[in-house]
Order: sequence, then structure tokens, then C-alpha cells
Amino acid sequence: MNQTERGSFSGKLGYILAVAGSAVGLGNIWRFPYLAAKYGGGIFLLVYILLTLTFGFTLVAAETALGRKTGKSAIAAFGDLRKKYKWMGFINAIIPIFIVPYYCVIGGWVMKYFAVFVTGQASAAAKDGFFGSYIGKSGEPILWAVLFLAAALIFVFVGVGGIEKASKVLMPLLAVLSVIIAIYSVTRPGSLEGVKYYIIPNFKNFSFKTIIAALGQMFYSLSIAMGILFAYGSYMDKKINMESSIKQIELFDVGIAFIAGLMIIPAVFSFSHGDASALQAGPGLMFVMLPKVFASMKMGSVIGAVFFLLVFFAALTSAISLLEASIAFFMDGFKLNRITSCILMIIIAVGIAIPCSLGNGIWAGITPLNMDILSFFDFVTNSLLMPIAALLTCFFISNVVGVETVIDEIKSSGAFTREKMFVVTIKYIAPIFLLVILISSILSTVGLFEL
Ligand code: PHE
Repeated sequence: MNQTERGSFSGKLGYILAVAGSAVGLGNIWRFPYLAAKYGGGIFLLVYILLTLTFGFTLVAAETALGRKTGKSAIAAFGDLRKKYKWMGFINAIIPIFIVPYYCVIGGWVMKYFAVFVTGQASAAAKDGFFGSYIGKSGEPILWAVLFLAAALIFVFVGVGGIEKASKVLMPLLAVLSVIIAIYSVTRPGSLEGVKYYIIPNFKNFSFKTIIAALGQMFYSLSIAMGILFAYGSYMDKKINMESSIKQIELFDVGIAFIAGLMIIPAVFSFSHGDASALQAGPGLMFVMLPKVFASMKMGSVIGAVFFLLVFFAALTSAISLLEASIAFFMDGFKLNRITSCILMIIIAVGIAIPCSLGNGIWAGITPLNMDILSFFDFVTNSLLMPIAALLTCFFISNVVGVETVIDEIKSSGAFTREKMFVVTIKYIAPIFLLVILISSILSTVGLFEL
């Protein structure tokens, strides 16, 4: 994503693959299944899909169009259109800085699990307590997190050409392997209950939290409200049909998340002997359930190793885009050079990753807002900062530059069939919805409202 590459995506497919590389990552495979399990199964899935098709589409389209129109990244794009509003770009661009650290911690867990499976320890990893005692350690998980960060940084420096080529092969492979694992999972004895829980919406399971969790997940998974889509838009050729590209990205992103849920949630019912409390496992769900699935398979060590390797690649492509955006924040916002920006980012990433990791072990007693430290950063970025950034973007488009700016940009390269929905969402539905979500998140944060 450097300057010289602007406008250089090789056509529509190149653009779609690049954005999909950023969008498809731990959000789809690690985060989506545990939220779906926790917040109501089928009803969560339904709310998530509805949000993605309306809100998600609207915000992706808006950011991409502003990026392509101005040819700039978030900070510069806001400033370019209206100088006075440059600070709004800052709010978008600061978010990835707080995601990178804990993303590295989870990325480190994935690397560790790859190492475990590649060395044939599938059955040890499948034991109850393996995951908890691993993440509770003080040294090793931090080391893996730093390794993950280093891997992503290497590509930020040497350029992403190689990894883009690799991911063209590896991402489809991940999709195929996930489908195979999902088929295996849903055909285990007892899994059917889980499939039903995951696919059939049950309104009894619906709560306000379902919406909040689904909304935060949508932002996260589609890489919205972080300045990232502005940058990708700015590299997008003016001739590429924007609406249809976005549709395909949405489809891909939701598809992978859906399959990940199918791999993991039915397995909870089959491998936890009907113990529904496992649904509440939270961020550890994938790491607890999948090893049990693999350990029960023939060649489970090999399949597990390949799976974690592919997830590592998906996570790496997302981490690279997160890092690029973070570095752009220092470069565009403070006119620092690339090296200084990188060094600053390394210090911040390691500085925050350490407490995020220790929060699962010796610092488990530190619980800001009643959460472990990693969940706290996840909550603040997804449930507070992203709705604020999205709200500001809606305001900026509706009241400052005008919806026509976005509409004209989208229409300049093809049809805009969801135009009416776009206008209504960005002017009315999104701001009201976001305000309600934000206020309730804040009230719950200060303890005035029980979410
Ligand atoms: N969307 C990525 C995922 O699902 C995470 C990400 C967030 C990447 C923000 C870039 C920017 O894992």
C-alpha cells in the first residue's frame, strides 16, 4: 500500500482480492464463531447478515468512494474534501493502532497451535485446560505475539507483492479446507442440535447485546471505520464497478465467517457432551473446540497443522493492512517518516500486547470494565471507537460533502442499485442506530445500564 502503488490494482479481481485479504482474517475465523455461540446462535447470524447487507454495504461504499474520489487515505481524504474536518479522519485512523497489539496476541496463539500440530501433539491440545494453561503463561504467548508482529512487519517493508500472490492460492485453499472440516463437524454424533442452534433464529435468544455484538463484529470483519477502505479505494481504478466489487467482498467475508461457525459451533454440542456452557467460552472457543475436532479425525495432526497455517496467512494479510493503516496515521497525520512511524508502532504494539497477554495469566486480576485486558481493548475499539468513527463519517457525508458526492463517484463506474437504501441508511437509519448503540455502550461502561 505505498504511494507508488496508487491506482495499480490489476483490475477488479486484484482489487477484490486485496480487500478480501484485509477483510478475511481472525475476525471471521476466531471472532465470529465465538460471538455467534455466545449471543444467540441463529438470531445472531440473522442480525449479522442483515446488518452487513444494509449498514455494512453503506459504510463500505461510502469509505471506498471517498477514498477513490480524493485518491487519499483517511486523514488526507477528510482534510482534502473539507479542511476543517480533518480531525474526523484522525479518529478513523487511530483505531487500528489499538487493534494491532491484541491482533498480534491472537495471531501468536494461531502460530503456537500450528507448532503444536506440526509436532504431532494434537491429542495434548485437545485436552481440557490446555488452552487456558497455555495463554496463562507469562513468557511464551508474548514471544509468539512478537514473532507474529515481526512477520507482518517484514511484509510491510519488503512489500506485499509476494504475499498477495501466495494468498491468491492460500485463501481459496482455506475456504475449501474449512468446508471439509465443517462437513466433518456437522456430521458428528450430537452435532445436529448445534447446527439448529446456529442456523435457526430463535427470538428467545435475542437481546440488545445481540445487536451490539453483531454491529461491532461487522465493523471489525469488513475493516470499516478504520481508515483502511479509504486507502484501498484510493488505489482503485476509476473504471472498476464499485457496487458489484463490494457485493463480492461482502459475500466472501460473510461466507468464510459462516463456514467458520459451522466448523466450531456444532462441535460444541458434539464434543462438550451437550454442555451448553461451552457456548459461552468467549475468545478461546476456536482454540478449545477445533483441537478436539482434529484429534478425533484420522490424520488430525496434519489437517490441524495445515488449517492453522492457512489461518496464519489469513491473519497475516489482515495484520499487514492494520499495520499499514497505523503507520499511515503517523506519516499522514504527523508527517513522520516511514521508519520512525514503524518504530513508534512497534513500541506501541509490544507495549500493549504484553498486558493483553498477561491479562490471561498473572494479571488476570486487572479487569477494566470487568473485562480481561485483551477483551477490554477489543471492546473499546469495536463497541466505542468504531461506532463513533462511523457516526462521524455518516455526518460528514450527509451534512458536509453531501450524499451526491458518494453517489456520483459510485455511478461513474457502473450501476448503483442500492442507491435508495444507501441514502436512507446513511442519512437516518445509521446515525440513529449508532447513537443508540453508543449511548448504551457508554452507559453500561459507567455502570448505569446493564447490557
Ligand atoms: N477484518 C479483519 C479480520 O476480520 C481485521 C481487520 C480489521 C483488518 C481492521 C484490517 C483492519 O480479521
